[in-house]
Amino acid sequence: MAWYKPLGDEIALFETAARRKLPVLIKGPTGCGKTRFVRHMAERLERPLITVACQEDLSAADLTGRYVLEGGDTVWRDGPLTRAAREGAICYLDEVVEARADVLTVLHPLTDDRRVLPLERLGEEVEAAEGFQVVISYNPGYQSMRKELKESTRQRFVSLSFDYPKPELEREIVVHESGCDPKIAAQLVQLGVRSRKLKEHGLAEGASTRLLIYAASLVEAGLSLETACEATLVGSLTDDAELTAALRELLRAVLG
Ligand SMILES: Nc1ncnc2c1ncn2[C@@H]1O[C@H](COP(=O)(O)OP(=O)(O)O)[C@@H](O)[C@H]1O
Ligand SMILES: [Mg+2]
Repeated sequence: MAWYKPLGDEIALFETAARRKLPVLIKGPTGCGKTRFVRHMAERLERPLITVACQEDLSAADLTGRYVLEGGDTVWRDGPLTRAAREGAICYLDEVVEARADVLTVLHPLTDDRRVLPLERLGEEVEAAEGFQVVISYNPGYQSMRKELKESTRQRFVSLSFDYPKPELEREIVVHESGCDPKIAAQLVQLGVRSRKLKEHGLAEGASTRLLIYAASLVEAGLSLETACEATLVGSLTDDAELTAALRELLRAVLG
């Protein structure tokens, strides 16, 4: 099972929502464990997981299905949402605010007590199998006015708010995922915490848990801590000269 370190009561909440057949919305900054959590929960609940990475070109047919030409015949191909409904899978829509709001209305009949998916083109109404659940996630920090969930969509979901783990948990996660020395993890987590405070100074996002794991993995593979940090906690966070200088200053302060 995908290893997951709980940060609060999110496992119990998700399990309860799943039991009550309620869809779940997970919000939180990039690289804080949302995808890992969903994978963990799917395995824990023994349900297949079907993931869709949302982007602005995503159409309703990309989710539900379409007729395609196959050797001269037109045949219907289920989309990931339809497959998940038939199979009783968890359908996970990642970065859901990237999809156009009107496209997401195809979720509506599946996420209320009807639990059906009308496929007009096929002339069929798919009834969601036991176990089917919609899970969506997004990073509220990136949301622009243009990219917001419709209120009618949002209010169909039970919400889980994620954030970066507390330092002691984040250290444990970095050690587990990279195999690095706990002392290295402690320094990296301290850098992570402090980089997140630079948001007030114009940094789009501080270092994610994922980025700290990258740095730790590079150190574990033999690079110096300075080189590893420059390539991750500086280079991957900004292109801006002033913010780069601020991050290097932070490295000097924490690493000595
Ligand atoms: N609570 C956690 N338990 C286990 N691993 C975690 C946790 N949080 C973050 N991670 C690690 O951080 C990485 C990035 O997390 P991910 O779930 O991909 O982030 P998100 O989907 O929020 O962008 C994961 O691959 C995993 O190694
Ligand atoms: Mg993710």
